[in-house]
Amino acid sequence: MAKVRLENITCNFDTVTAVDEISFEVPDGEFWALVGPSGCGKSTILRAIAGLEAVTAGNLYIGNTLVNTVPARERDVAMVFQNYALYPHMSVFDNLAFGLRMRQSDRTTIHQRVETVAKSLDITHLLGRKPGQLSGGQQQRVALGRAIARQPQVFLLDEPLSNLDTQLRDDTRTELKQLHAAIGITTIYVTHDQTEAMTLADQIVVLDGGRIQQIGPPQIIYAQPANRMVAAFLGQPPMNILQASYDQGLFCLGEQALPCPPALLPLLQSAHGQNLHLGIRPEHFQAYTSSHLAPSPHLPAEVKLVESLGRESLVRATLIDQPHQVINFFIGTDLSARVGDYLYLHLDLDHLMIFDAETGDRLQPARD
Ligand SMILES: Nc1ncnc2c1ncn2[C@@H]1O[C@H](COP(=O)(O)OP(=O)(O)OP(=O)(O)O)[C@@H](O)[C@H]1O
Ligand SMILES: [Mg+2]
Repeated sequence: MAKVRLENITCNFDTVTAVDEISFEVPDGEFWALVGPSGCGKSTILRAIAGLEAVTAGNLYIGNTLVNTVPARERDVAMVFQNYALYPHMSVFDNLAFGLRMRQSDRTTIHQRVETVAKSLDITHLLGRKPGQLSGGQQQRVALGRAIARQPQVFLLDEPLSNLDTQLRDDTRTELKQLHAAIGITTIYVTHDQTEAMTLADQIVVLDGGRIQQIGPPQIIYAQPANRMVAAFLGQPPMNILQASYDQGLFCLGEQALPCPPALLPLLQSAHGQNLHLGIRPEHFQAYTSSHLAPSPHLPAEVKLVESLGRESLVRATLIDQPHQVINFFIGTDLSARVGDYLYLHLDLDHLMIFDAETGDRLQPARD
């Protein structure tokens, strides 16, 4: 096991800067997730750590060793690729055993390790098959198993569960968490799936355009996003972002006005007349069928879509007179809403976030 440290890492492909001066350190034994939109540089970072991509600038350490020029095979990292590359001519058993044989482990160790890993990933019945005889999800589990069987210093996992169905994905995620708890190998995990990032990771790194937007524990990233990009990226459905202008302690959204919570007033001393973006998560709206019932402050909205999720429904509505302002929120089974209905949305202002409309940065009290 080893820590992994990136110091001002940049990776260019011709004119494209895929990774732009990135620095972070994953302590020995921790599980970190890299998240961000497609093309933000996640795979490039993993490939650079694995030694499959040269870094253009910066220093990369595994343990205390500077590995910029160390060949991939000498880095003792195992990577599961986004498009899991299995050896097509080898059986599943041989694929799983490959890394161990390369390290000249003895026969008994190899058999034991392969059987344990195959059992934990539920692929024991596939050990005699070739990759071409497996489904996409089965191949993905073999690729994961091959990395696990080797027990390297560092795991680099690039969307390792993306081809699994929901049930298998949940099961494998639990397996991964238990496995990490048991063997504690330093792991860097790339995913599009927020649930995976939120449930598995000690720390999440949010990337956009090759740059780090925020690093932090999942709950902090969710509750205290550094900017609008991070706020809108994590959460399903994402945080609602409303355009408003600020004047004398009030946020104006067309005809509607919301009072600024006292705690946020100091942030807005020089913001009079300024355009701002207000962020509020779907779970912080409470819907009422009449304006008399709805506590202040509330916003009137017209229902555009209702999706039943079983225990609750997800409603998409637009502010009255401002059809470009879309709000997603949940309603319980006690309230029925149909397309065209008007609802009155009470906001919990304690959870309101304010973003600079230009830069996207969150205006946050100093205690954050
Ligand atoms: N070999 C390459 N040559 C040129 N450009 C590349 C190469 N590999 C990646 N890129 C570019 O670098 C950027 C980052 O790519 P990368 O594969 O790291 O993104 P990603 O975050 O893994 O995306 P995804 O979520 O779609 O897998 C993209 O703009 C991509 O087009
Ligand atoms: Mg990728």
